Amino acid sequence: MVIIGSDHTGIELKKQIIAYLQQKNISVKDVTDYEDQTGDDYPDIAWTVCKNVLDNECLGIAICGTGIGISIACNKINGIRAAVCTNEYMAKMTRADNNANVLCLGSRLVYDNIFSIVDVFLTEQFSGDRHQRRLDKIEKIEQSQKDGVDYGDSV
Ligand code: RB5
Repeated sequence: MVIIGSDHTGIELKKQIIAYLQQKNISVKDVTDYEDQTGDDYPDIAWTVCKNVLDNECLGIAICGTGIGISIACNKINGIRAAVCTNEYMAKMTRADNNANVLCLGSRLVYDNIFSIVDVFLTEQFSGDRHQRRLDKIEKIEQSQKDGVDYGDSV
């Protein structure tokens, strides 16, 4: 399953991506499918998308105007690795190297082929190995902040 959500700027783009995924028989859950999305704030959308991604152990797509604000908010949530991708290479590398679990898209950006970016993000696999070591360090940074210790003292 793929989780998807957008703020008020991204409703149309979200619908297009849902239709695209459904046509490919990919199960997609719209977590912002409610009547009045006027003025929806991207941090709230980030939380809803990410909570569903973590609960379902799956990938997510989060949309705001630029993709940037929502990615900043998503990356505050423990266990989330969110990436703004504007081309297929970014989508491929953020899955392979960063094991990204949320793709952030900008509804106000012009993409050459947004569906192709979505395809790559959903199919590319994490390559593990030395990249896992680096992700472990990101987790350690998160943990050190929770514990109130200086990560720099341990490296
Ligand atoms: C909303 O106007 C806009 O600020 C939001 O969608 C997003 O682009 C923020 O980064």
